[in-house]
Amino acid sequence: MEQRDRWASKIGLILAMAGNAIGLGNFWRFPYQAAKNGGGAFMVPYFVALFLLGIPIMWVEWVQGRYGGKYGHGTLGPTFYLMSRESLKPRTAVIFGIIGGMLAFSVTTLLNSYYLHIIGWSAAYTYFSATGAYFGQDTIQFLIGYLTNTTQVLIFWGISVILLGIAVGQGVSKGIERWVKVMMPVLYIAAILLVLRSLTLGSPVKPEWSSIKGFEFLWEPRFSEVTWESALAAAGQIFFTLSLGMGIIQNYASYLGPEDDVALSGLATVSLNEFAEVILGGSIAIPIAFAYLGEEGVAGGVGLAYIALPNVFMNMPGGQLFGAVWFLLLWFAGFTSAIAMYNYLVALLEEDLKINRKTGAVFVFILYLILGLPVALDPTAASLDLYYLTELDNWVGSYLLVVLGLFDIIVAVWLFKPENFWEELHKGAYIKVPEWVMVLIKYIAPIYTLILLVFTTKTYIAKGYFKAVPSYVANPEFAKWVWGARGMMLLILIIGAIEAYMAIKKKY
Ligand code: PHE
Ligand code: NA
Repeated sequence: MEQRDRWASKIGLILAMAGNAIGLGNFWRFPYQAAKNGGGAFMVPYFVALFLLGIPIMWVEWVQGRYGGKYGHGTLGPTFYLMSRESLKPRTAVIFGIIGGMLAFSVTTLLNSYYLHIIGWSAAYTYFSATGAYFGQDTIQFLIGYLTNTTQVLIFWGISVILLGIAVGQGVSKGIERWVKVMMPVLYIAAILLVLRSLTLGSPVKPEWSSIKGFEFLWEPRFSEVTWESALAAAGQIFFTLSLGMGIIQNYASYLGPEDDVALSGLATVSLNEFAEVILGGSIAIPIAFAYLGEEGVAGGVGLAYIALPNVFMNMPGGQLFGAVWFLLLWFAGFTSAIAMYNYLVALLEEDLKINRKTGAVFVFILYLILGLPVALDPTAASLDLYYLTELDNWVGSYLLVVLGLFDIIVAVWLFKPENFWEELHKGAYIKVPEWVMVLIKYIAPIYTLILLVFTTKTYIAKGYFKAVPSYVANPEFAKWVWGARGMMLLILIIGAIEAYMAIKKKY
């Protein structure tokens, strides 16, 4: 077997994993989810999900990834197959391989196809902030103007994705690891600068608005707002923010040696992400927006990062600088997550089709260009509805993660057998995980995930997401963009399934 690339240093591995997890989810998705779902009270279902789902599945994925890597695999098809074979006949094990490979392929192609665009917007807005381009303008019109200018969108997208391709093309230890060692410290410094700015804002507009009041607004527990739906939102946020159910934690863990610690490293990934989410992410966007715009101004998701905050920066002392720092933070956070998805696909080409890394990086660039074009061309950008992106996000960015998370546990714990899983978890481990945690991993986490899935399905039905024209579509004229997204998902699922089947068949 040819020697696989490995992480060169512990610190490099930890920064890469932290970079993988810490993304737009921490600084943008988390604050508005919390604000919308009960503020401080949101933290109750959030921490419950963190302990019952987040940490157990994080360990499952690290174990799975290192195990696959031992056999030369950084993708889920063959990895799921190998693990399932511990208790199933090869023919049945293949089915699990196909499911895992198909789901992870869909997430790494489709979720990244629009995530990369949001990274491109962040790159553009870093530039627009530094130059004060939107200062003195209506920030809604400015955003629409930007999004509907396809050439401009593709330029900033292209700059970001070419850089990603270069980093991935250089390899894991010589590329990704080197890049994150620079980008992650910059990310932390940017976040801390913004927290300091946020804490010192005072009440620049009205005495009853201040960043401290913004903290109160975000963290004040409003238990009446904690409903079933907010508990679902909390669990969904845990999946998204920890990069679970995507295949990319496994991919990074596959570049470990067979005796490298996973138990403490998995916990470290969770801790670094949660610090960046709850402490840093919770102290930036909402308090800053609140100080200038009050409660009204901070409501609304997509608008928060690209409409409300630009409005603040143009009025804030040092606004060009802090605006640029904010978007640079989003850019780097997104970049160091997207790099993992990019690498998943390059690993797939490398391992299953024997395409060399540099060529693979070019192929993946072209793939993302094609898959991302509908996001850039979607005419509903003019109303900021973005039907194509929304439809993908509802399914690939939320629903599939949970489905894959469930299969992670079924395969790595049940089919692989609990005692094998426990042994793998402790191989080379720096800590001993207490016995009772096995109850969480074996029963609680999968049941919780299953419940999450059932209730999410119910909510999706109630919200009309299953309808031919889903309920969020205000303008049926553009419903074809929703169907386009669905067709794309179907196509990618089929390709992912065939790919996984061929890869397993070829080797085993
Ligand atoms: N964990 C990431 C985040 O918080 C999620 C993600 C990873 C999204 C990789 C896209 C690509 O943003
Ligand atoms: Na995250």
